[in-house]
Amino acid sequence: MNLIEAIENRRSIRAFKADPIPDEILKKILKAAGRSPSYTNTQPWEIAVVSGKKRDELSRELYKTASSDTPVTPDIPKPLVWPEELERRSKEHGERRFKVLGIGREDTDKRKNLRLLNFKFYGAPAVLFIFMDKNLGEWSIMDIGMFAQTIMLSALEYGLGTCPQAALIDYPHIVKKYLNIPESKKLVLGISIGYPDNEALINTYRSMRVEMDEFVKWF
Ligand SMILES: Cc1cc2nc3c(=O)[nH]c(=O)nc-3n(C[C@H](O)[C@H](O)[C@H](O)COP(=O)(O)O)c2cc1C
Repeated sequence: MNLIEAIENRRSIRAFKADPIPDEILKKILKAAGRSPSYTNTQPWEIAVVSGKKRDELSRELYKTASSDTPVTPDIPKPLVWPEELERRSKEHGERRFKVLGIGREDTDKRKNLRLLNFKFYGAPAVLFIFMDKNLGEWSIMDIGMFAQTIMLSALEYGLGTCPQAALIDYPHIVKKYLNIPESKKLVLGISIGYPDNEALINTYRSMRVEMDEFVKWF
């Protein structure tokens, strides 16, 4: 696949087939991601690949916790306020997704259930949790963003889809407990990975983008 095509084709997948991913393929993707750029080549990423029984156990625990409206305690705090225009885009994204699924404004149960699917990893057979040392900050998060995008683009080469999920960092203590990760690490991002279920309605959703001229100034 041509690189520009891959960038344009990548989208978040929110329904996967259960088919397992061969380890060899996961290794190729992660090896490619290891070539991502990082601040003074510090390569701050540490990654846990979770599948099989462990994936199922962790999913059950996260799902149960999120279902009971347990307050979230992410290691990377979410902004309290977003600039108005970004808030508008975020709301539009949510509404357009609900519309694809025919979920109305008043249907709070269905809306909640859609969020809860995050914790089932959208049915993906594997999930990647990315950690970094707790003393690191924004610079390393920037590196991890690049690492994550390299994973997501490389996955396309093997017919795999991905969904980066901030939801998966809502309860870091659970993830660390299940994966035996020390408290000296911050959980930065979760990425569900697997073969896309192209029949699923949710996967027909396409996100919008602002026009290039809205975010570029030429000098
Ligand atoms: C840091 C980050 C966190 C995200 N968290 C979630 C999430 O918790 N659940 C989800 O379904 N999608 C999540 N997404 C996916 C975004 O909603 C998606 O990237 C955006 O709407 C653009 O759509 P696209 O990825 O299909 O191009 C996240 C994306 C990023 C980069």
